[in-house]
Amino acid sequence: MAMIIDGKAEAERVRGEVRSRVEQIVASGRPTPGLRVVIVGDHPASRAYVRTKARVAREVGIDGQVIELPHSVTTDDLLAVVADINADRSVHGVLVQLPLPSKVDAGRIQRAIDPTKDVDGFHPLNLGRLASSPQPLAEPGLIPCTPLGCMHLLESVHGRDGLRGANAVVIGRSNIVGKPMAALLLAADCTVTVAHSKTRNLKRFTKSADIMVAAIGRPRMIGADYIRSGATIIDVGMNRIVDDGESRLVGDVFFGPVSRVAGAITPVPGGVGPMTVASLMRNTLTAYELQGVGG
Ligand code: GUN
Repeated sequence: MAMIIDGKAEAERVRGEVRSRVEQIVASGRPTPGLRVVIVGDHPASRAYVRTKARVAREVGIDGQVIELPHSVTTDDLLAVVADINADRSVHGVLVQLPLPSKVDAGRIQRAIDPTKDVDGFHPLNLGRLASSPQPLAEPGLIPCTPLGCMHLLESVHGRDGLRGANAVVIGRSNIVGKPMAALLLAADCTVTVAHSKTRNLKRFTKSADIMVAAIGRPRMIGADYIRSGATIIDVGMNRIVDDGESRLVGDVFFGPVSRVAGAITPVPGGVGPMTVASLMRNTLTAYELQGVGG
């Protein structure tokens, strides 16, 4: 039976570290770190995520606020909101929740965010820094929150040096998870395969993987027959399904059967999700320090 990787407990620890650091900052007379989370439209799951992000920010002492905009906003409207936040010296981190309505140019919005306030790490400058980073990562950069959280969980199982030479497969090639995840695993000296929806014979890659990061968006797609015995499985999927007449959140990995084969596995919920939010708090502090606020 696999070890269950407790993302909730790990996230709690990270949040505690951030809380202590924020207390030190404020006690030394420097301004309170500020985070703005922008959401467009009324997608229920996205609204729940952004509310959680702002609430957790406040719990660790960060001034976290949600900015809600109607589905009808244009790219120019959103660019104006971003420009205001960029100019606001009391705000150190900004995140525009994705997906945006299709008529909004998401790439332009991401490029408009001040790279030093880009707590999502999606600005091309931050993604480029990550892609061209040495092994191991040198300076504290702004790294996309979900992959950063996944690396944290992997290091909690394998140790900082324990990933060296491991075969890692990332399933999914999104800018939010797959691509930055591959860059982080490479920086940790893994041998990395990025598989995706067009990959032929996926099992050929997954069966030889010591590490799997599943970010596909298909409920329970990865069964035990995809897994190498003893592998570490990180499940990024969050899919709502109706099971036995009940609505449930499940991952991309079929937890029951896979947990009997794997060495360690993240549950859904309670695995990657809380770590994503905790990483956002870390990034907000990193952004604060990058801006040299009051120090
Ligand atoms: N939508 C799903 N995950 C994310 C994320 O990490 N950041 C943003 N901005 N939107 C998302």
